[in-house]
Amino acid sequence: MNRRTQVGIIGAGPAGLLLSLLLARERIDSLVLESRSRDEIEATIRAGVLEQGTVDLMTEMGLAERLQREGAVHHGIELRFDREGHRIPLSELTNGRAITLYPQHEVIKDLIAARLNQGGHILFNVKDVYLSDVTSHQPRLQFIHEHEQMELQCDFIAGCDGFHGVSRVSIPEAIQTVFSRFYPFGWLGILMQAPPSAEELIYAYSNRGFALVSTRSPELQRMYIQCDPQEDIANWSDAMILEELQLRLATTDNWQLRMGPIIQKSILAMRSFVTEPMQYGRLFLAGDAAHIVPPTGAKGLNLAVADVRHLAHALALFYRENRTDLLEAYSTTCLRRVWRAEHFSWWMTSMLHRFPDDDPFQQRMQRAQLDYTVRSRAAAMSLAENYVGLPFDW
Ligand code: APR
Ligand code: PHB
Repeated sequence: MNRRTQVGIIGAGPAGLLLSLLLARERIDSLVLESRSRDEIEATIRAGVLEQGTVDLMTEMGLAERLQREGAVHHGIELRFDREGHRIPLSELTNGRAITLYPQHEVIKDLIAARLNQGGHILFNVKDVYLSDVTSHQPRLQFIHEHEQMELQCDFIAGCDGFHGVSRVSIPEAIQTVFSRFYPFGWLGILMQAPPSAEELIYAYSNRGFALVSTRSPELQRMYIQCDPQEDIANWSDAMILEELQLRLATTDNWQLRMGPIIQKSILAMRSFVTEPMQYGRLFLAGDAAHIVPPTGAKGLNLAVADVRHLAHALALFYRENRTDLLEAYSTTCLRRVWRAEHFSWWMTSMLHRFPDDDPFQQRMQRAQLDYTVRSRAAAMSLAENYVGLPFDW
Protein backbone atom coordinates (compact mmCIF):
# COMPACT_ATOMS: atom_id res chain seq x y z
CA MET A 1 0.00 0.00 0.00
CA ASN A 2 1.31 3.45 -0.90
CA ARG A 3 0.72 6.76 0.83
CA ARG A 4 2.06 10.27 0.44
CA THR A 5 2.76 12.99 2.94
CA GLN A 6 4.83 16.15 3.04
CA VAL A 7 6.87 15.25 6.11
CA GLY A 8 7.35 11.65 7.23
CA ILE A 9 8.15 11.65 10.94
CA ILE A 10 9.84 8.64 12.55
CA GLY A 11 9.18 8.41 16.30
CA ALA A 12 6.37 9.58 18.57
CA GLY A 13 8.51 10.94 21.39
CA PRO A 14 8.35 14.60 22.38
CA ALA A 15 10.29 15.58 19.23
CA GLY A 16 8.15 13.75 16.65
CA LEU A 17 4.81 14.57 18.24
CA LEU A 18 5.50 18.25 18.76
CA LEU A 19 6.86 18.51 15.22
CA SER A 20 3.63 17.08 13.80
CA LEU A 21 1.64 19.68 15.78
CA LEU A 22 3.92 22.57 14.77
CA LEU A 23 3.63 21.52 11.11
CA ALA A 24 -0.15 21.23 11.34
CA ARG A 25 -0.23 24.83 12.54
CA GLU A 26 1.50 25.72 9.26
CA ARG A 27 -0.91 23.50 7.30
CA ILE A 28 1.87 21.07 6.45
CA ASP A 29 0.80 17.44 6.26
CA SER A 30 2.75 14.81 8.19
CA LEU A 31 2.51 11.20 9.29
CA VAL A 32 4.15 9.87 12.46
CA LEU A 33 5.48 6.29 12.54
CA GLU A 34 6.08 4.83 16.00
CA SER A 35 7.46 1.37 16.70
CA ARG A 36 5.95 1.00 20.16
CA SER A 37 2.33 0.91 21.29
CA ARG A 38 0.51 3.99 22.51
CA ASP A 39 0.15 2.44 25.98
CA GLU A 40 3.87 1.79 26.20
CA ILE A 41 5.02 5.29 25.24
CA GLU A 42 2.43 6.84 27.52
CA ALA A 43 3.76 4.83 30.46
CA THR A 44 7.55 5.14 30.05
CA ILE A 45 9.01 7.03 33.01
CA ARG A 46 11.41 9.77 31.94
CA ALA A 47 12.53 13.12 33.40
CA GLY A 48 10.13 15.95 34.02
CA VAL A 49 11.70 19.39 33.99
CA LEU A 50 10.31 21.79 31.38
CA GLU A 51 12.17 24.99 30.60
CA GLN A 52 10.30 28.27 30.49
CA GLY A 53 10.54 28.34 26.67
CA THR A 54 9.09 24.82 26.39
CA VAL A 55 6.13 25.79 28.57
CA ASP A 56 5.63 29.07 26.67
CA LEU A 57 5.62 27.27 23.32
CA MET A 58 3.13 24.65 24.53
CA THR A 59 0.93 27.39 25.96
CA GLU A 60 1.02 29.41 22.75
CA MET A 61 0.00 26.26 20.85
CA GLY A 62 -2.93 25.55 23.16
CA LEU A 63 -1.27 22.37 24.48
CA ALA A 64 -0.74 23.41 28.07
CA GLU A 65 -4.17 23.25 29.65
CA ARG A 66 -3.39 20.22 31.86
CA LEU A 67 0.23 21.27 32.26
CA GLN A 68 -0.91 24.61 33.73
CA ARG A 69 -3.28 22.79 36.06
CA GLU A 70 -1.11 19.89 37.20
CA GLY A 71 2.46 21.05 36.62
CA ALA A 72 4.36 22.61 39.51
CA VAL A 73 6.19 25.86 38.79
CA HIS A 74 9.52 26.06 40.61
CA HIS A 75 11.35 29.34 41.10
CA GLY A 76 14.56 27.93 42.53
CA ILE A 77 16.68 24.84 43.12
CA GLU A 78 18.92 23.85 46.00
CA LEU A 79 22.57 22.88 45.75
CA ARG A 80 23.56 20.87 48.82
CA PHE A 81 27.12 20.08 49.85
CA ASP A 82 29.12 19.90 53.06
CA ARG A 83 25.83 19.09 54.79
CA GLU A 84 24.39 22.48 53.96
CA GLY A 85 21.76 23.63 51.47
CA HIS A 86 22.09 26.74 49.29
CA ARG A 87 19.18 28.07 47.26
CA ILE A 88 19.73 29.25 43.69
CA PRO A 89 16.83 31.67 43.13
CA LEU A 90 16.28 30.89 39.46
CA SER A 91 13.50 33.41 38.81
CA GLU A 92 15.19 36.26 40.64
CA LEU A 93 18.34 35.68 38.60
CA THR A 94 16.60 35.38 35.21
CA ASN A 95 14.01 38.16 35.12
CA GLY A 96 11.21 35.97 36.38
CA ARG A 97 11.79 32.85 34.29
CA ALA A 98 11.03 29.51 35.96
CA ILE A 99 10.91 25.76 35.35
CA THR A 100 7.84 23.55 35.48
CA LEU A 101 7.84 20.01 36.84
CA TYR A 102 5.54 17.93 34.65
CA PRO A 103 6.49 14.35 33.76
CA GLN A 104 7.47 13.62 30.20
CA HIS A 105 4.91 10.85 29.77
CA GLU A 106 2.19 13.36 30.67
CA VAL A 107 3.56 15.65 27.95
CA ILE A 108 3.38 12.68 25.57
CA LYS A 109 -0.24 11.95 26.50
CA ASP A 110 -1.22 15.58 25.90
CA LEU A 111 0.59 15.77 22.55
CA ILE A 112 -0.91 12.49 21.27
CA ALA A 113 -4.42 13.53 22.32
CA ALA A 114 -4.02 16.96 20.69
CA ARG A 115 -2.73 15.51 17.43
CA LEU A 116 -5.41 12.82 17.17
CA ASN A 117 -8.09 15.39 18.05
CA GLN A 118 -7.18 17.51 15.06
CA GLY A 119 -7.47 14.44 12.83
CA GLY A 120 -3.72 13.87 12.60
CA HIS A 121 -2.22 10.50 11.81
CA ILE A 122 0.04 8.56 14.14
CA LEU A 123 0.71 4.92 13.29
CA PHE A 124 1.72 2.92 16.37
CA ASN A 125 3.35 -0.54 16.40
CA VAL A 126 5.04 -0.06 13.02
CA LYS A 127 7.89 -2.47 12.25
CA ASP A 128 11.02 -2.42 10.12
CA VAL A 129 11.09 1.24 9.15
CA TYR A 130 13.53 1.67 6.28
CA LEU A 131 14.62 4.99 4.74
CA SER A 132 15.48 5.28 1.04
CA ASP A 133 16.30 7.96 -1.55
CA VAL A 134 17.10 10.35 1.25
CA THR A 135 19.27 12.53 -0.96
CA SER A 136 16.59 12.82 -3.66
CA HIS A 137 13.57 15.17 -3.70
CA GLN A 138 11.23 12.28 -2.96
CA PRO A 139 12.61 10.30 -0.02
CA ARG A 140 10.61 7.22 0.94
CA LEU A 141 9.83 5.31 4.09
CA GLN A 142 9.05 1.62 3.90
CA PHE A 143 7.59 -0.15 6.92
CA ILE A 144 5.21 -2.82 8.10
CA HIS A 145 1.94 -1.84 9.72
CA GLU A 146 -0.67 -4.36 10.78
CA HIS A 147 1.16 -7.09 8.82
CA GLU A 148 1.03 -5.04 5.66
CA GLN A 149 4.07 -3.71 3.81
CA MET A 150 3.61 0.03 3.29
CA GLU A 151 5.47 2.74 1.46
CA LEU A 152 5.27 6.43 2.33
CA GLN A 153 6.47 8.99 -0.18
CA CYS A 154 7.61 12.19 1.46
CA ASP A 155 9.12 15.56 0.62
CA PHE A 156 11.16 15.41 3.83
CA ILE A 157 11.89 12.91 6.59
CA ALA A 158 12.25 13.92 10.23
CA GLY A 159 14.32 11.43 12.23
CA CYS A 160 12.81 11.82 15.70
CA ASP A 161 13.36 8.20 16.70
CA GLY A 162 15.65 8.64 19.69
CA PHE A 163 19.12 7.33 20.27
CA HIS A 164 18.41 3.73 19.21
CA GLY A 165 16.43 4.63 16.11
CA VAL A 166 17.08 3.92 12.43
CA SER A 167 17.45 7.49 11.17
CA ARG A 168 20.92 8.35 12.37
CA VAL A 169 22.37 5.01 11.30
CA SER A 170 21.03 5.46 7.78
CA ILE A 171 23.41 8.41 7.29
CA PRO A 172 26.72 7.22 5.80
CA GLU A 173 29.36 7.07 8.52
CA ALA A 174 31.82 8.88 6.28
CA ILE A 175 29.88 12.13 6.49
CA GLN A 176 29.16 11.94 10.23
CA THR A 177 31.35 13.16 13.02
CA VAL A 178 30.45 11.67 16.37
CA PHE A 179 31.42 13.15 19.73
CA SER A 180 30.76 11.10 22.80
CA ARG A 181 31.63 10.57 26.43
CA PHE A 182 30.63 7.86 28.87
CA TYR A 183 30.60 8.69 32.55
CA PRO A 184 31.92 6.17 35.05
CA PHE A 185 28.64 6.21 36.98
CA GLY A 186 24.91 5.80 36.45
CA TRP A 187 21.78 6.97 38.23
CA LEU A 188 19.61 4.67 40.26
CA GLY A 189 16.16 6.27 40.02
CA ILE A 190 13.16 5.52 42.21
CA LEU A 191 9.52 6.48 42.44
CA MET A 192 8.34 6.65 46.02
CA GLN A 193 4.86 7.07 47.44
CA ALA A 194 5.43 9.85 49.93
CA PRO A 195 4.78 13.55 50.38
CA PRO A 196 7.47 15.91 49.06
CA SER A 197 10.50 16.37 51.30
CA ALA A 198 11.24 19.80 49.89
CA GLU A 199 9.51 22.49 47.90
CA GLU A 200 12.26 22.64 45.28
CA LEU A 201 14.66 20.17 43.64
CA ILE A 202 17.78 19.31 45.62
CA TYR A 203 21.04 18.50 43.84
CA ALA A 204 23.40 17.09 46.47
CA TYR A 205 27.13 16.45 46.33
CA SER A 206 28.48 14.23 49.09
CA ASN A 207 31.47 12.04 49.76
CA ARG A 208 29.25 9.04 49.04
CA GLY A 209 28.26 10.45 45.65
CA PHE A 210 25.49 12.48 44.06
CA ALA A 211 21.81 12.46 45.09
CA LEU A 212 18.83 14.26 43.57
CA VAL A 213 15.43 14.90 45.13
CA SER A 214 12.73 15.61 42.57
CA THR A 215 8.98 15.23 42.53
CA ARG A 216 6.13 13.98 40.38
CA SER A 217 3.03 14.97 42.36
CA PRO A 218 2.04 15.73 45.96
CA GLU A 219 1.86 11.95 46.53
CA LEU A 220 4.68 10.65 44.33
CA GLN A 221 8.36 11.55 44.58
CA ARG A 222 11.24 10.93 42.16
CA MET A 223 14.77 10.52 43.50
CA TYR A 224 18.10 9.42 42.18
CA ILE A 225 21.45 8.33 43.59
CA GLN A 226 24.71 7.98 41.73
CA CYS A 227 25.73 4.32 41.42
CA ASP A 228 28.04 2.03 39.49
CA PRO A 229 26.70 1.93 35.88
CA GLN A 230 27.18 -1.87 35.74
CA GLU A 231 25.32 -2.39 38.99
CA ASP A 232 22.46 -4.88 38.98
CA ILE A 233 19.36 -3.22 40.41
CA ALA A 234 18.61 -6.49 42.22
CA ASN A 235 21.58 -5.74 44.49
CA TRP A 236 19.83 -2.66 45.84
CA SER A 237 17.14 -3.38 48.38
CA ASP A 238 14.65 -0.62 49.13
CA ALA A 239 16.16 -0.23 52.59
CA MET A 240 19.65 0.27 51.13
CA ILE A 241 18.41 2.92 48.71
CA LEU A 242 16.63 4.83 51.45
CA GLU A 243 19.64 4.67 53.73
CA GLU A 244 21.93 5.92 50.98
CA LEU A 245 19.59 8.80 50.19
CA GLN A 246 19.49 9.79 53.85
CA LEU A 247 23.27 9.66 54.19
CA ARG A 248 23.92 11.69 51.06
CA LEU A 249 21.28 14.28 51.87
CA ALA A 250 22.02 14.68 55.59
CA THR A 251 22.47 18.26 56.81
CA THR A 252 23.80 19.84 59.96
CA ASP A 253 20.29 21.13 60.74
CA ASN A 254 18.87 17.62 60.66
CA TRP A 255 16.83 17.79 57.42
CA GLN A 256 14.49 14.81 57.13
CA LEU A 257 13.69 12.76 54.04
CA ARG A 258 10.02 11.81 54.00
CA MET A 259 9.79 8.17 53.08
CA GLY A 260 7.24 5.67 51.84
CA PRO A 261 6.97 2.58 49.63
CA ILE A 262 9.24 2.48 46.58
CA ILE A 263 7.05 1.51 43.63
CA GLN A 264 9.58 1.57 40.80
CA LYS A 265 13.36 1.48 40.53
CA SER A 266 15.83 1.32 37.65
CA ILE A 267 19.38 2.24 36.69
CA LEU A 268 20.23 4.55 33.82
CA ALA A 269 23.57 5.04 32.14
CA MET A 270 25.01 8.52 31.71
CA ARG A 271 26.46 9.68 28.44
CA SER A 272 27.05 12.73 26.31
CA PHE A 273 26.69 12.26 22.55
CA VAL A 274 26.43 14.51 19.51
CA THR A 275 26.45 13.67 15.83
CA GLU A 276 27.25 16.33 13.25
CA PRO A 277 25.71 17.37 10.96
CA MET A 278 22.07 16.86 11.94
CA GLN A 279 20.98 16.76 8.30
CA TYR A 280 21.66 14.47 5.36
CA GLY A 281 19.89 15.30 2.10
CA ARG A 282 16.23 15.54 2.99
CA LEU A 283 16.60 13.73 6.31
CA PHE A 284 16.64 15.97 9.38
CA LEU A 285 17.51 14.54 12.80
CA ALA A 286 15.92 16.03 15.91
CA GLY A 287 16.12 15.28 19.63
CA ASP A 288 17.80 12.19 21.04
CA ALA A 289 18.37 10.83 17.52
CA ALA A 290 21.10 13.46 17.17
CA HIS A 291 22.25 14.17 20.73
CA ILE A 292 22.18 12.84 24.27
CA VAL A 293 22.95 14.72 27.46
CA PRO A 294 23.43 13.29 30.94
CA PRO A 295 20.27 14.04 32.96
CA THR A 296 21.96 16.31 35.50
CA GLY A 297 21.04 19.49 33.64
CA ALA A 298 17.50 18.28 32.79
CA LYS A 299 17.95 19.34 29.16
CA GLY A 300 17.00 16.25 27.06
CA LEU A 301 13.37 16.99 26.34
CA ASN A 302 13.94 20.73 26.07
CA LEU A 303 16.63 20.32 23.43
CA ALA A 304 14.28 18.15 21.40
CA VAL A 305 11.66 20.90 21.57
CA ALA A 306 14.14 23.53 20.39
CA ASP A 307 15.22 21.34 17.43
CA VAL A 308 11.72 20.74 16.13
CA ARG A 309 10.75 24.37 16.58
CA HIS A 310 13.60 25.33 14.22
CA LEU A 311 12.74 22.52 11.83
CA ALA A 312 9.05 23.42 11.64
CA HIS A 313 9.90 27.06 10.99
CA ALA A 314 12.40 26.16 8.27
CA LEU A 315 9.90 23.82 6.60
CA ALA A 316 7.17 26.46 6.80
CA LEU A 317 9.34 28.96 4.95
CA PHE A 318 10.19 26.32 2.38
CA TYR A 319 6.54 25.59 1.60
CA ARG A 320 5.36 29.17 1.90
CA GLU A 321 8.14 31.05 0.12
CA ASN A 322 10.22 28.34 -1.47
CA ARG A 323 13.10 29.35 0.79
CA THR A 324 15.80 26.77 1.47
CA ASP A 325 18.21 28.91 3.52
CA LEU A 326 16.77 27.98 6.91
CA LEU A 327 16.70 24.29 6.03
CA GLU A 328 20.32 24.53 4.95
CA ALA A 329 21.17 26.27 8.23
CA TYR A 330 19.16 23.81 10.36
CA SER A 331 22.09 21.79 11.61
CA THR A 332 24.28 24.80 12.39
CA THR A 333 21.41 26.62 14.10
CA CYS A 334 20.52 23.63 16.31
CA LEU A 335 24.10 22.68 17.13
CA ARG A 336 24.85 26.03 18.74
CA ARG A 337 22.20 25.35 21.39
CA VAL A 338 23.01 21.64 21.53
CA TRP A 339 26.64 22.32 22.40
CA ARG A 340 25.67 24.91 25.01
CA ALA A 341 23.42 22.32 26.65
CA GLU A 342 26.09 19.64 26.26
CA HIS A 343 28.53 21.86 28.09
CA PHE A 344 26.06 22.77 30.82
CA SER A 345 25.06 19.15 31.38
CA TRP A 346 28.67 17.99 31.45
CA TRP A 347 29.56 20.83 33.83
CA MET A 348 26.73 20.05 36.26
CA THR A 349 27.60 16.36 36.07
CA SER A 350 31.30 16.97 36.67
CA MET A 351 30.65 19.30 39.58
CA LEU A 352 28.16 17.08 41.40
CA HIS A 353 29.39 13.47 41.09
CA ARG A 354 32.16 11.50 42.74
CA PHE A 355 34.50 10.10 40.11
CA PRO A 356 35.87 6.62 40.92
CA ASP A 357 39.42 7.73 40.13
CA ASP A 358 39.26 11.14 41.80
CA ASP A 359 41.88 12.40 44.18
CA PRO A 360 41.83 15.04 46.93
CA PHE A 361 42.79 17.72 44.41
CA GLN A 362 39.83 16.98 42.16
CA GLN A 363 37.49 16.93 45.13
CA ARG A 364 38.75 20.36 46.21
CA MET A 365 38.17 21.62 42.66
CA GLN A 366 34.56 20.43 42.82
CA ARG A 367 34.02 22.05 46.19
CA ALA A 368 35.59 25.30 45.01
CA GLN A 369 33.24 25.33 42.03
CA LEU A 370 30.19 24.61 44.19
CA ASP A 371 31.20 27.29 46.67
CA TYR A 372 31.68 29.85 43.88
CA THR A 373 28.35 28.93 42.30
CA VAL A 374 26.40 29.59 45.49
CA ARG A 375 28.38 32.61 46.69
CA SER A 376 28.86 34.61 43.50
CA ARG A 377 25.80 36.21 41.93
CA ALA A 378 27.49 36.05 38.52
CA ALA A 379 28.15 32.32 38.84
CA ALA A 380 24.65 31.59 40.19
CA MET A 381 23.19 33.64 37.36
CA SER A 382 25.06 31.60 34.80
CA LEU A 383 23.69 28.36 36.27
CA ALA A 384 20.18 29.85 36.43
CA GLU A 385 20.24 31.16 32.86
CA ASN A 386 21.19 27.74 31.54
CA TYR A 387 18.86 25.82 33.83
CA VAL A 388 15.69 27.76 32.95
CA GLY A 389 16.83 27.61 29.32
CA LEU A 390 18.34 30.10 26.91
CA PRO A 391 15.99 31.78 24.42
CA PHE A 392 15.10 29.71 21.34
CA ASP A 393 16.94 32.11 19.03
CA TRP A 394 20.14 31.69 21.07
N1 APR B 1 10.80 3.22 14.12
C1 APR B 1 9.79 3.95 14.67
N2 APR B 1 9.88 4.53 15.88
C2 APR B 1 11.02 4.36 16.58
C3 APR B 1 12.11 3.62 16.06
C4 APR B 1 11.96 3.04 14.77
N3 APR B 1 12.94 2.33 14.22
N4 APR B 1 13.11 3.63 16.96
C5 APR B 1 12.67 4.35 18.00
N5 APR B 1 11.41 4.79 17.79
C6 APR B 1 10.58 5.60 18.69
C7 APR B 1 10.72 5.23 20.14
O1 APR B 1 9.89 4.13 20.47
C8 APR B 1 10.32 6.51 20.84
O2 APR B 1 8.93 6.54 21.15
O3 APR B 1 11.01 6.95 18.63
C9 APR B 1 10.65 7.60 19.84
C10 APR B 1 11.81 8.47 20.29
O4 APR B 1 11.44 9.20 21.42
P1 APR B 1 12.47 9.67 22.56
O5 APR B 1 13.47 8.62 22.80
O6 APR B 1 11.66 10.16 23.70
O7 APR B 1 13.27 10.87 21.87
P2 APR B 1 12.88 12.40 21.57
O8 APR B 1 11.52 12.54 21.00
O9 APR B 1 14.05 12.93 20.83
O10 APR B 1 12.77 13.07 22.99
C11 APR B 1 13.78 13.72 23.67
O11 APR B 1 15.29 13.47 25.46
O12 APR B 1 16.46 13.03 27.37
C12 APR B 1 15.45 12.68 26.58
O13 APR B 1 13.87 11.83 28.12
C13 APR B 1 14.11 12.75 27.11
O14 APR B 1 12.96 11.19 25.76
C14 APR B 1 13.31 12.53 25.85
C15 APR B 1 14.25 12.89 24.81
C1 PHB C 1 13.35 14.18 37.27
O1 PHB C 1 12.45 14.71 37.94
O2 PHB C 1 13.22 13.04 36.80
C2 PHB C 1 14.62 14.92 37.06
C3 PHB C 1 14.77 16.19 37.59
C4 PHB C 1 15.94 16.88 37.39
C5 PHB C 1 16.97 16.30 36.67
C6 PHB C 1 16.81 15.04 36.13
C7 PHB C 1 15.64 14.35 36.31
O3 PHB C 1 18.13 16.99 36.51
